[in-house]
Amino acid sequence: MIELTVNGVRHTLDVEADTPLLWVVRDYLNLTGSKFGCGAGLCGACTMHLNGSPIRSCITPLAAVAGQQITTIEGIGSSGNLSTVQQAWVEHNVPQCGYCQSGQIMSASALLRDNPNPSDADIDNAMSGNICRCGTYPRIKKAIKHAAGQLSADRNSDLFKELTHG
Ligand code: FES
Ligand code: FES
Repeated sequence: MIELTVNGVRHTLDVEADTPLLWVVRDYLNLTGSKFGCGAGLCGACTMHLNGSPIRSCITPLAAVAGQQITTIEGIGSSGNLSTVQQAWVEHNVPQCGYCQSGQIMSASALLRDNPNPSDADIDNAMSGNICRCGTYPRIKKAIKHAAGQLSADRNSDLFKELTHG
């Protein structure tokens, strides 16, 4: 039995220890937002967060993440309760076929958590492992900048409220 926590929910699973995390999440937990692309850690379609940092779940064996916190695209937001990054994606009509986009959003969300005001180079660097066959890169970059601006405005307004006891 292996324990892991996905999107805040603890699971005890009777699965072979070397099963890739992507298949555990998709086939055993029925969370299918994370996609299988290359299966070799090269495209980013399967990106999840391990303790907040992006990982390639297609090449991560279950045993390597036992007892740790996994977040999938389903834990980032949901329809009716989109995250700021997801809202920016909608605003900029980022997806074309959509297949790569949950991985793109996972990488962008981790970037903005660690670096709330990324430069173009920071964005290129953080997103370089996420491939999009449809070539949505310009819209992805615009959406990340939009989300960064939005998060910064939200922070300033929270700070303003704190300062004014509003
Ligand atoms: S499916 Fe995991 S990196 Fe491509
Ligand atoms: S939107 Fe089609 S692969 Fe990225």
